[in-house]
Amino acid sequence: MQTIPRDSSLDSTLDVVREGFPFIWNRVRGLHSDIFQIRLMGQRAICLHGPEAAQLFYEPARFVRTGAVPRRIQTTLMGQDAVQTKDGNEHRCRKDAFMSLMTPQSRQTLMQQLAREWQAAAEHWTGQQQIVLFNEVLEVLCRAACAWANVPLPEKDARHRAQDFWAMVDAFGGAGPRHWRGKRARTRTEDWIEGVIKKIRKGKLHVAADSPAHVMAGLRDADGDLLSARMAAIELINVVRPIVAIATYITFAAVALHEYPAYKGLLRTASDDYTEYFVQEVRRDFPFAPFLGARVREDFTWRGCDFKKGTLVLLDVYGLNHDPRLWPEPNVFWPDRFRNRPISPYDFIPQGGGHYSGHRCAGEWITIEALKQAVTFLNDGITYDVPAQDLRYDLTRMPTLPASGFLMRHVRITG
Ligand code: HEM
Repeated sequence: MQTIPRDSSLDSTLDVVREGFPFIWNRVRGLHSDIFQIRLMGQRAICLHGPEAAQLFYEPARFVRTGAVPRRIQTTLMGQDAVQTKDGNEHRCRKDAFMSLMTPQSRQTLMQQLAREWQAAAEHWTGQQQIVLFNEVLEVLCRAACAWANVPLPEKDARHRAQDFWAMVDAFGGAGPRHWRGKRARTRTEDWIEGVIKKIRKGKLHVAADSPAHVMAGLRDADGDLLSARMAAIELINVVRPIVAIATYITFAAVALHEYPAYKGLLRTASDDYTEYFVQEVRRDFPFAPFLGARVREDFTWRGCDFKKGTLVLLDVYGLNHDPRLWPEPNVFWPDRFRNRPISPYDFIPQGGGHYSGHRCAGEWITIEALKQAVTFLNDGITYDVPAQDLRYDLTRMPTLPASGFLMRHVRITG
């Protein structure tokens, strides 16, 4: 039996807080091992890095999600007992509902809503001296996501609902006021969306067949029982909230366009594929999910290492995107690296890995398509000045953003 290298800290909880995104990656390099053990909040945990480890992590027979997501994350980011925490049949019922919303036709409807919102927003920006792109994009995405989902969003509520969706995401690595802000935002949002679900169920609100609101209002558990209105609301929020969160990647994409202007011309003249390389490089280079957690289902041995039932296992996401064994010169923003580079379900996992029947992000296609549309819009649809500002982002903060949120001045609509 091989002993798994151990981090020297008695308990690594504070180190995770201090180091943030690169916590696992720092130790992979320091210990020269893609597997090591730590203590986290007093319990033993195994950290994994690399495509082979990712493949193991996504074998459903090896791991469960039940009991892997801390309560503080469930009560802010994803909601209690949501799809992310389910296994087996219960997971399949919920995940099938999410995947039914991802047909090309349905995604196209969302992109059309988004195009309308970008245009309306740009018209508004032309009258402003300066805007904070991140805040504006939260609203663009929130309006489009609600319209697509068939969730009524009165005009006067758009700004604060968008801020609430973001507050839930912003709470995931936060403590104190940030955590409480996220919790309050979740309660407000669940109350609102639960009301929508109840109206649909009573026939007082008519929504399009197969729309997200319709699908979630009719969602049943593995025994065939209708989910409670609260639970259905939590899953409907799990559709809208992550769409709003794409604002982070869009803001990072704006930073990349600004810092590497050579790509602006290439994006205009090269094929649609080039926009995809650019967007993939945004998802690779800029941080969003630091690592993922699961628990060992039954005892097993992997590469001579013992995995005991119930042990918490963390899979490195951030580090995999910055490992020079996979990405030459990983700290250089270079979209061309995606040209002719096959991507496996395990070596590029900014939104989780494996297959969509497992826990891989249901909204990956939407994210890529929305980002491509946003990059084209920022590059071709408008012109703007970028004033001096602080574009650095803090890797110890989860999630993180450019400090200024990306200021833009004198926005003009092109053409
Ligand atoms: C799961 C990231 C956008 C819906 C996940 C996971 C990650 C992730 C890391 C966990 C994977 C795992 O546990 O193995 C992101 C990022 C996004 C994004 C960074 C863009 C900023 C979206 C969108 C949607 C969505 C647009 C839906 C419209 C989901 C759902 C799950 C999930 C439902 C749970 C899947 C499951 O447990 O089976 N996402 N996501 N996400 N995401 Fe996303």
